[in-house]
Amino acid sequence: MIDTSDINKSRQNLDQYDEIWLFGYGSLIYKVDFPFLDKQPACIYGWQRRFWQGSHDHRGTQENPGRVVTLVQIDQNKDAMTEPCVGMAYQVSAEVFEHLDYREKNGYLRHEIPVEFVDGTIKQGLIYIADEANPAYLGEASISDIAQQVFQSRGPSGENRDYLLELARSLRALNAHDEHVFSIEQHLLRFLQSA
Ligand code: SIN
Repeated sequence: MIDTSDINKSRQNLDQYDEIWLFGYGSLIYKVDFPFLDKQPACIYGWQRRFWQGSHDHRGTQENPGRVVTLVQIDQNKDAMTEPCVGMAYQVSAEVFEHLDYREKNGYLRHEIPVEFVDGTIKQGLIYIADEANPAYLGEASISDIAQQVFQSRGPSGENRDYLLELARSLRALNAHDEHVFSIEQHLLRFLQSA
């Protein structure tokens, strides 16, 4: 089992921030099991959600990993408008990263990223991204194969389907459209209906 929590501790000096903002784009939007000082919808640019990361510790097991989201960089085509990736930003204290680093230990690394708030303010924030070099990375698959794996998987944090359904619900609550997430949801709902 990989564990990025020690690496993450040394990636940023959290004392250098006046305010620490965490940007969540997956389960961190809806499963808020940490204290926060403030919470605001926000977005980042240049990245898109993908169910390409394996979950061996939360929504799957070592033998049967589930699928959870990570972010992949959008190809910077100069003619293409970059779509925002909408999520939730939390102002937190440095101590909270003890818990967050443990929660996100299955391949996610902490990065700094500019976070744009609804009023247009931009602040440097922190984000967890699991890149393709991590051992739990599953990578691209068809929407239907991803939905099938999500449908079948479960782990210590619960059903993989609930991760997806909760994420889709929270994105709608934020008025965010995410083609990738919503199309996997459509497939999953069909599997659920015919089960
Ligand atoms: C996040 O939510 O920001 C990271 C991925 C996850 O924990 O689902």
